[in-house]
Amino acid sequence: VLGSAAELADLRTLAAGADVVTFDHEGVPPEVLATLAADGVPLAPSPEAQLMAQDKLHARVELGRLGFPVPPFVHARTPRDVAAFAAEHGWPVVGKLPRGGYDGRGVAVLDGAPGAAELLRDAPAGIVVEPHLALDRELAVLVARSTSGEAVAYPVVETVQRDGMCREILFPAPIDPLLADEAHALALSIAEEIGATGVLAVELFVSEDRLLVNELALRPHNSGHWTIEGASTSQFEQHLRAVLGWPLGDTDPTAPAVATINVVGPPDGTDPATRVAVALGVPGARVHLYGKAARPGRKLGHVTVRGDDPAAARARALQAAALLEGRDS
Ligand SMILES: Nc1ncnc2c1ncn2[C@@H]1O[C@H](COP(=O)(O)OP(=O)(O)OP(=O)(O)O)[C@@H](O)[C@H]1O
Ligand SMILES: [Mg+2]
Repeated sequence: VLGSAAELADLRTLAAGADVVTFDHEGVPPEVLATLAADGVPLAPSPEAQLMAQDKLHARVELGRLGFPVPPFVHARTPRDVAAFAAEHGWPVVGKLPRGGYDGRGVAVLDGAPGAAELLRDAPAGIVVEPHLALDRELAVLVARSTSGEAVAYPVVETVQRDGMCREILFPAPIDPLLADEAHALALSIAEEIGATGVLAVELFVSEDRLLVNELALRPHNSGHWTIEGASTSQFEQHLRAVLGWPLGDTDPTAPAVATINVVGPPDGTDPATRVAVALGVPGARVHLYGKAARPGRKLGHVTVRGDDPAAARARALQAAALLEGRDS
């Protein structure tokens, strides 16, 4: 079925006769999801749970209300609201469009009221404003919760962002086992409290040795691509098991170290797909390209390397990704 993710009629065609309808992105408007749910379409996750990934303001408010650790934030409707928050927390602050952002788009570091005014032009209903946090590192925890209530968690990974975009996903995360346990408990508890079904990715900040919830994604997520080769059950299989209410698969890692590096369109606009052969010369490199049109700065694929040593696996994955992007290293 070809159609638009925002068109009710197309989605009704898609849903007709389906055992379950699930998601690969957050682009179906909440109002459309509510209509489908009212039609009786079995949606997994539910529109209410999905809204936690679709609207950053809603997610901050709800997670805070449920008692989960979130950064200090305010819903700012005017540059004066932003300045008042900054007077308390200090400039710069981080402003975020509540809806539609990804890969750092819709997120801006604001140095003053003019920057705030510019971001607010794109968001008449207001933006989320947070302190610009000093991050020790960023983590991601992938959990899966089935429609029968069974839940499992994958090992915690470290994610490395450049220019607001996730570039590296590293297992194991170099953190204290106690912090990893805390991250698992937090993610499983969020899945339960919001009634997530399917895979849930929980993006976490580590700031001053504390975990803060950044964002949720209720679908297979970039931070889980390492599981394709790196875990007994890939996140894609796990998602389907979970939304079907089938038994969940093992989440054990398949190697002591797994590194996944995103492949991003290079500035010259050339297509990494033309350089697959040279990247495959890197021992152990597993290359995934998504078939998207090459544009500078666009995520076009990823490389995963498994090994015994985290630094060696990362170095090889970085090398293969660099070759795909047309660089030597
Ligand atoms: N308050 C903050 N303080 C410091 N850095 C931040 C803050 N908020 C976001 N960032 C940085 O910007 C990145 C992107 O932010 P966020 O995850 O909110 O946006 P996004 O573009 O929706 O991301 P995604 O591509 O994961 O959907 C974060 O991973 C983090 O590196
Ligand atoms: Mg994010």
